[in-house]
Parts: sequence; structure tokens; C-alpha cells
Amino acid sequence: MHMKLSGSSTSKVSAVIRKGIRQGVLTLAAAAMVMSVSAAPAALAQSAPKPIPHLVKKNGKAALMVDGAPYLMLGAQVNNSSNYPSQLPYVWPALKDIGANTVEVNVAWEQVEPVEGQYDFSFVDALVTQARENNVRVVLLWFGTWKNTSPHYAPDWVKLNNKRFPRMTKQDGTISYCLSPMEETTLEADKKAFAALMRHLKKIDGEQHTVIMVQVQNESGTYGSVRDYSPKAEKVFKGPVPEALLKKKGLKPAKGQNSWEQVFGKHADEYFHAWHIASYINGVAEAGRAEYDLPMYVNAAIREPLLDVGPESYSSGGPTHNVIDIYQAAAPKIDIIAPDIYKRDSKNYEAVLDLYSKYDNPLFVPETGSDTEFARYAFSVFGRGGIGFAPFGIDYTGYTNYPLGGKDISPEGLKPFSKVYALFGPAQREWAKLAFENQTWGVAEGDDRADQVVDLNGRWKATVSYGEWQFGFKNWTWLGDFEAVPGREKPNGGMVVAQLSEDEFLLLGLHARVTFDVGDKQKGKNVIYRSVEEGRFVDGKWVVDRIWNGDQTDYGLNLTDAPRILKVKLATY
Ligand code: DGJ
Repeated sequence: MHMKLSGSSTSKVSAVIRKGIRQGVLTLAAAAMVMSVSAAPAALAQSAPKPIPHLVKKNGKAALMVDGAPYLMLGAQVNNSSNYPSQLPYVWPALKDIGANTVEVNVAWEQVEPVEGQYDFSFVDALVTQARENNVRVVLLWFGTWKNTSPHYAPDWVKLNNKRFPRMTKQDGTISYCLSPMEETTLEADKKAFAALMRHLKKIDGEQHTVIMVQVQNESGTYGSVRDYSPKAEKVFKGPVPEALLKKKGLKPAKGQNSWEQVFGKHADEYFHAWHIASYINGVAEAGRAEYDLPMYVNAAIREPLLDVGPESYSSGGPTHNVIDIYQAAAPKIDIIAPDIYKRDSKNYEAVLDLYSKYDNPLFVPETGSDTEFARYAFSVFGRGGIGFAPFGIDYTGYTNYPLGGKDISPEGLKPFSKVYALFGPAQREWAKLAFENQTWGVAEGDDRADQVVDLNGRWKATVSYGEWQFGFKNWTWLGDFEAVPGREKPNGGMVVAQLSEDEFLLLGLHARVTFDVGDKQKGKNVIYRSVEEGRFVDGKWVVDRIWNGDQTDYGLNLTDAPRILKVKLATY
């Protein structure tokens, strides 16, 4: 968008530009270059056998390797009851509209083992076949002993037989709705079903790897009781804290001082429950991986990230941020502890991302709200090196989970996400590789809509501002009133930046203006663009379409809702 300027206005503009040049924030042109960032295999190439999907970690970073290269999951999760062949026709168009490369779909224990020992994997077959036809990968969600903490998805021969598969006992002696994690019979039954699922999966997908990861249970934990108080649980609670947990916590209690209560005091009940649920989940994951060794993760109904609240107010024993280390110690077969984030506000959202990036835990957001303001958080996730991001409830079955998510699940309503995915889609493999091997940063517009400054290793810094037109500045009051940028009722801006070399950065963003300046290490110098290339990746090679200069750089690098990738080379004078 360009505004017409009168002569006197133009001279004011020139003055602003001159001021900018003095401050070292504007640029000159440079030659186009073709540079290679990475060589990435095509997403679903079917020629040579490909290595099994797996997670790798290096220097505090993680990558989900799919077909032998880092994979960026542009995900979408379907509604809970869309796990039937009859509903799949409502799934694929939504996946296409949002531009996802991966669909997360639940497979329920009740569905695959309605009668004990008799398995029916016809839905899994339909799902995998149709996912291939629709050119998307799949993350399977195992709804077994816990689905949002309850056993609703367990078959009736499990959930209605409290004697064989006991529920937890609350402190007052009454029965909880939640199955007990202390019961070997329940664990064995869940393990058997899950192992059968993974065995079947290997048979139908062991070469093609359409399914790339599996979630074990869904939002485990318990509401209304911090732990199991059954006689069996009480006995274990009075016993010693397992060595593996003491080691993880770096604790060495004296002999006779190592009971849960003695070691963990007021946290003992919750930690005990977390340990036993995590151990149970580990047992299930281990049985499945013994059949077919795909990466596995758990998802969390999160705890308040910024408030000091007790386990009575959240799903105690689930993988909340305060027990990530306990899950890691108890569940080595689980690769990732992932938060489901439905907090709309930026402070809470970013806080959750921070909390789940600790303990060397790979960042992955398997569920988030489908409303407009959630889409921009993909920039925060991918900028931090996250392996994936998925809004929830993405299908055209006519269900919406507003007020948790959005009201409008339609091509129009999905646009905030489809814009983000259209931006990352063509560079998904390159970005995943950069996020794993190079340094990357990402910001999402805050609720305060204020500028954000990203320190790029002290040598450079980027200021990201929002709500600017592509030309000029929003505080140009001398122009009189002019319109606000449309489509910005809710915050939707953000950007990611990857360092390619000391002075060279790759930039992807939407609804944001990015201005570079020197960092503290180059204080006193003035910044100048050596070049700003707009381009794309073709077979892993960077191809320049044009060089930005003049109006396109004089007011910062203005990213709209058009999917544009920039390679920026900085210099000083
Ligand atoms: C989180 C759960 O994990 C999902 O399965 C679903 O119930 C959403 N909440 C809400 O729609």
C-alpha cells in the first residue's frame, strides 16, 4: 500500500529517511545471489526405503527426523469423535484449507478392542490410506486409560469392571472417576492393546512412515484427588522414593528418611501420583515401541504457568510443568512432554513455552486454540526451535470448541492459520534444519501490541513493530488522520529469524515490520543493508526472486499477510 504524498509531505518523508540513514537503520541495494542453505528430501518421496521417524537431540536442540531429515510439523488435530471412517471426508478438506502437513488423529481403545482380545484396526487402515492420498503425515493419539484424565475411551469391559480395573480411592474413602495407575491388571490390558496397535501399524506403515509419531494417552492426571489413597497405594506411599527419581532430583536422603513424605514434604502426594502415572505410561510406550519404535510423547492439561497454585486446582499427576523432571525419570520411553495451550493471552502463552523448553525437553505444541489470536504463536514455537504446532478441532464435522478455540471452522475462519502455514510450508524442511543446526529466534505480537527487540547474539538486534502500513510510520500525525491497517482487530503478527552466518539472516513473518540495528558489540557503528533478497527454496537451494530496496526497505522490512521469505545481509559503515 502506497500513499500519495504532496510536495511538502515528500520533503518531510525525505527528512525522515535522512534521519533514518543517520541513525543507521536504512539501506542500499546489493546484487542478487543464489545460496544453498540445505538439501532437503521431498516430504513423501517413495523411492529408497527411508529411515524410521525418530527424535534427535544435539546441543540442547531437538529435531523430529522424518525420512532422514528434520521435519517441521504444521499440524492440525481433529475433533475427538472424528476418529471414524465416516468422518474422514470432513477432515481432508479442512486439512487442505489450513495447509497442514500433518494431521493428529485419535485412535481409541474402545474402538480397536471392543471385545477383549479381538482387534479391529479398520479405522487405522482407512486413516493411513487416506492420509497418503491427501499427502499428509499422521500423528496417532492413543486414547486408552486416560483421555482428559477419564477412562471414557476405554472399552466397556474395562471401564465398567471396577473390580478387575479399579478406580482410584480418594482421601475420604470415596471412589474417584479415574482409573488407578497402581493396578498391574489395567496396565497389562492397556499395554496389550497398544502393542497390538503398534504391531499393526508396523505391518501397514513400516516402510512408508505415514505415521510419524504417537501420543500415549491424552491429558493424563486426576481432578478432585491429588493421588490414589487406596490401601495398595498407601503402602507404596509409605515406602521409599525410587532411586531413579532421587538421582534425577539430585537427592541423597539418609537411611530411614527416604519415604515420599520425608523426601518431598508438601509435594509428596502430587509427585507420588505423577511418578506412578508416568511409570504406567512408560510401560505402555515401552510395549508399543518394542513392536514398532516410533517417537512417543505425552500431552498435558497445563497448570497455571504464572500463579503458584496447588494440585487441587489442576489435573494432579499429569505432565504439568512442575513435574517434567519426574516424567523424564519415570518415562524414558517418552521423548517429549508437550503442553496443550488454550491460554489466549500472550504472557501466559509465552510462559508455558518457556516452562516446557526446560529440562532439555523438546518443544512441541500438539494442541492449541483454533481462534485467530492463537495462530501467531506458531512464530514463538518455531522460533524457539519447536518441532510442531497444531490447532485443535480442525475438521468440517460442524463442531467447534469455542470458547476454548474459535467459533468459525471454515476456510475463512482458518485463514489466520493457513496464512502462517502458507508462509512456512514451502520452507518447512529448510526451517526445521536451521532450527536444529543454527541459532533461531521467534516472536509473536504481544497483547500490548508493543515493539519487541530481539538481540541477535549481541552483534545485531531486530526491532519488530506491528500495525504499521508498509510505508511511513503510524505516528505521522502531520498527515492528518489515516486509516488503521485492516484485519488487525486481534493480534496476528510475528516473525522468526535464523542466523545463516555472522551478518546474514533468514526472515519469515506476517503482519510485522522488522528493523535491524547494531547490537551492543558494535556500538557506535551504523547499520546498512548489504542486501535484502526476497526468494524461495527450490530443491533446498535459495533462489532469489528480487532485491528489496527503496520504499521496500526505507521503513523497515514490512511483512504483510503475503507469504514472503527474506534473506537479509547486514553491514556497518
Ligand atoms: C484438550 C483435549 O486434549 C482434547 O482432546 C479436547 O478435549 C480439547 N481439550 C477440548 O476440545
